[in-house]
Amino acid sequence: MMLRPAILDCDTGIDDALAIMLAVRSKELRLLGVTTTSGNVSLDLVCRNTAYVLELVGAGGRVPVIPGASKPLMRAAHHETHVHGDDGLGGAYDGDGSEAAGIDAGVARAADFIVEQVLAAPGEVTLIFTGPLTNLAHALMKCPDLPRHVRELVFMGGAVRTGGNVTPSAEYNMYADPEAAKLVFHSGMRMTMVGLDVTNPTLLTPEHIGRLRGNPAGEFVYRCTKAYLERAEELNSGYGDGFSMHDPLTVGIAIDRTLARTGSYYVDIETRSELNDGRTVCDFLGKWGKEPNMDVCLEVDSDRFLEHFVRTIGELSS
Ligand code: RIB
Ligand code: CA
Repeated sequence: MMLRPAILDCDTGIDDALAIMLAVRSKELRLLGVTTTSGNVSLDLVCRNTAYVLELVGAGGRVPVIPGASKPLMRAAHHETHVHGDDGLGGAYDGDGSEAAGIDAGVARAADFIVEQVLAAPGEVTLIFTGPLTNLAHALMKCPDLPRHVRELVFMGGAVRTGGNVTPSAEYNMYADPEAAKLVFHSGMRMTMVGLDVTNPTLLTPEHIGRLRGNPAGEFVYRCTKAYLERAEELNSGYGDGFSMHDPLTVGIAIDRTLARTGSYYVDIETRSELNDGRTVCDFLGKWGKEPNMDVCLEVDSDRFLEHFVRTIGELSS
């Protein structure tokens, strides 16, 4: 089977790390590179964590890490260390700091990389975003024609029928840079939203993790999710006992769309509200009379995805 070329853009925290592992091991994707953005933690930590995970799964040096935005388009950075830990990996980072030695986080090249790779293979590159959409907004400002040449954007973000996770109405990736998201939403790019509606109930449980242990990759999954699982009730907004697979599910849906039931709707995002900044508003009833701008994931086969994840990472561990 022809591998589909893809770029993964991350703000490598815990679930981004698991998403990177899945994308590297995927039999369907050819990972052109991982672009990084400030988000869960600062850009330099995101670059280090991304390089660390790529090395862990044997892709260090083969899959490039391309540094991007060190802050949102207009707002101050809002990190989530209370969820992802000071190291961004749930306290599981045990490297020597050299993993990102060749990566200059001071020179943002992610937007250029995205434009170059997409224009080099028109209609072929899938963009998978698991953090704030800042790098894509910069790419669109550099190349307004980009949407015509992107195969598809699949992004983790937003919530259309459930509440937020960083405020009562906003999901983190959207809340962190709503101006970037608005620019992307209005770009005309073909896109699929993987929001909290389908990621909240997709939980990697201690049973799943137990099936992965006994080798470096599986041990990392155990170590980086351990502290989160001890606080699952608090962090999962009552969705149950497990680790929320926000970003790995996004990779999963980019690989296999049949995992999710979607609907095409017009979605916009709030950028000027004291209470609702970052809220994604889905026009289910067509009240605004606007053409749909994205496919929204409404339901997901969480069990089938989780089995795919465990099987794929399990193979990786062999
Ligand atoms: O709301 C969940 C999202 O925000 C995930 O991508 C997580 O990594 C954080 O970036
Ligand atoms: Ca993320």
